[in-house]
Amino acid sequence: MSDHAPTGVDPYTPSAARLYDFYLGGKDNYAADRDAGTQLLQRIPELRSTAHANRYFLRRVVRHLATEAGVRQFLDIGSGLPTQDNVHQVAQRHNPGARVVYVDNDPIVLAHAHALLADDPSTTAVANADLRDPAGIIAHPESQRMIDFTQPVAVLMIAVLHFLTDDDAPNDVVAALREELCPGSYIAISHLENETSPERAAFMEQVYARSSATLQGRSHAEIHRLFTGLKLVEPGVVPISEWRRDPTEPYWPPEQAWGDGGLARVTSLPPTPIRG
Ligand SMILES: C[S@@+](CC[C@H](N)C(=O)[O-])C[C@H]1O[C@@H](n2cnc3c(N)ncnc32)[C@H](O)[C@@H]1O
Repeated sequence: MSDHAPTGVDPYTPSAARLYDFYLGGKDNYAADRDAGTQLLQRIPELRSTAHANRYFLRRVVRHLATEAGVRQFLDIGSGLPTQDNVHQVAQRHNPGARVVYVDNDPIVLAHAHALLADDPSTTAVANADLRDPAGIIAHPESQRMIDFTQPVAVLMIAVLHFLTDDDAPNDVVAALREELCPGSYIAISHLENETSPERAAFMEQVYARSSATLQGRSHAEIHRLFTGLKLVEPGVVPISEWRRDPTEPYWPPEQAWGDGGLARVTSLPPTPIRG
């Protein structure tokens, strides 16, 4: 992409969404993103496999939700730039009536998402909202238009909660969203872990401090605690590559895919105790 940017888009500050697009080999990035991304990949080549493994995790989660769980409504928060197998495409492949609201706070994502994802306004919509304001996401006119919150909804927070610092209280954000969901709804999370290589994870945080979004990796135990109050679906919170692994897909071991992920059901029954 040339440095000519749509209104509201700053091409000179690396953006979390465009860096991720760069790791995935996409073209929706500017020189500033490529410079920061190249610096990161030189030191942490695992970022590329982590991004790909995360996309496969997302696909497996959505496939499970649309088939075995029978979910027809999705709220994809921190949806990122459109790429291959976007959530509505995966969901509708298995459940043609599935509806998806894509939520992000990055102007470049919103510009591209409006153009590419919202081509059928009866089944897909795009909302400009921030995960740090969960009530604002639920109250957004597009969420209200598309989603019936008296019926099960799958809330996806895939590779986005690590853009909330501890001051943003990510556990409270997840809990606030959970409160809005009826039993039978689901919450899916994947999150960058910082234990495989603490030193290189710290380097990543330094580079992202100059980007549009602050990054904070977390320990396995901290990621596990994000699911407090929810009933985990088997196999629980595990490395993203290991979650319901599909032998037909590419595989990266956890040391090449630095993320943990899980899917949990909202239930009125006592939740699964969280260890760690
Ligand atoms: C790494 S991408 C993940 C994209 C997609 N969920 C996936 O896993 O393939 C993170 C996305 O979260 C968005 N994001 C970061 N902080 C956010 C916030 N506070 N509210 C909403 N979106 C946010 C970024 O703009 C970016 O598009």
